[in-house]
Amino acid sequence: MKLLYKLDVAWCRTFQSVLKIGNYFMGYRMPVCLEGPGKIRELGAFLREKGINDVLVVTGAGMVRRGQVQPMLEGFDTNGIRYTLQSYTNTDPTTDDVERGYQTYRDKSCKAIVAMGGGSRIDCAKGIAAKAVHPKKSVSQLQGLLKVHRPIPPFVAIPTTAGAGSETTVAAVITDVKTHRKAAINDPFLIPRYAVLDPELTVDLPPLTTATTGMDALAHAVEAYTNRTYNTELENRLAREAVRLIHDNILAAYEKGSDLQARQNMQRGAFYAGRAFTRGCVGYVHAIGHTLGGLYGVPHGLAMAVLLPYVMRAYGVAAHGRLAELAEVCGIGGGSDGEKAEAFLRWIEETNRRMGLPDGFDMIQDEDIAQMITWAKKEANPLYPVPVVWGREEFRRLIESVRK
Ligand SMILES: [Fe+2]
Repeated sequence: MKLLYKLDVAWCRTFQSVLKIGNYFMGYRMPVCLEGPGKIRELGAFLREKGINDVLVVTGAGMVRRGQVQPMLEGFDTNGIRYTLQSYTNTDPTTDDVERGYQTYRDKSCKAIVAMGGGSRIDCAKGIAAKAVHPKKSVSQLQGLLKVHRPIPPFVAIPTTAGAGSETTVAAVITDVKTHRKAAINDPFLIPRYAVLDPELTVDLPPLTTATTGMDALAHAVEAYTNRTYNTELENRLAREAVRLIHDNILAAYEKGSDLQARQNMQRGAFYAGRAFTRGCVGYVHAIGHTLGGLYGVPHGLAMAVLLPYVMRAYGVAAHGRLAELAEVCGIGGGSDGEKAEAFLRWIEETNRRMGLPDGFDMIQDEDIAQMITWAKKEANPLYPVPVVWGREEFRRLIESVRK
């Protein structure tokens, strides 16, 4: 058993070293950003300037009902941009949602995609974009690494939460309707060409959503920063800055939703964190969190908030140095690296508590644990360059520890 584990670790680390070299040749571009209060109203003129027309607007039915999409659509009308609305009611995008969106895109002869909403809507729209260039493939055939490998139609991402960072990432997480498994399409061609970061779009977010999506962004930055191998200094710098921005602003945004400066800083933090994990990858927080979402419908950000301190603590001394650096960036003191790391993790737990988030989950069933371990391990190993490679036993211990 020990030998098998050692072989698994050796395989993961070898794979990661090869991918690190491959990463230098990947096109991790930054989206062009329109940033600031009210920028959403300028999108129509911006698209006209770029010669972009006939767009599919992917959004949430609730946003349409509440009139939140209207200012953008008025800008489209003024600038002669033709559009078709495709709205969704469910939270996590499924393979069926993507197929339905693609049919609309094709039937209406759209040429570009505008995604407005939380990470789920943007991920769904990315899935539609991937289908647009691979109409004969099923969504599950596109899930995995580098399966898109050709330019998608012009794509604008407009996040209405500050969390997922989907506006700058290579990933689109889609749930298979048959198996309930969440899996990502990962390809640098999925990085949106344009992003609109307008803090006015986030002021009406309920405090709970502000809390969970903000913690998702924090998990992106912390996992990317504590991971080994893939990051360059650019991603490291962005991850540190993301953690500082989130540390300084998450409670302000939670307690006073109308604080535009805090909202803008959270949006920027989520954007930087998204860019950091786009190269640096996430880790076991996400791998385990996805299983909770797939099996029990736990919202992604909530899973991240709860799991982040557990997983980071379980990495032990291997993560202390990096966590200590993040503590310093936030002005959190301590003596040794281990003490600073612990102080940083306690800050996360305290912030969760102040935002009314739980410190464990009560829905995990004994009979599901083996499946959770298989899914999490399959998602993470060998791709995610985590500080410590885990075998089934370590995954089991973590999942047991988070049960309440
Ligand atoms: Fe995430």
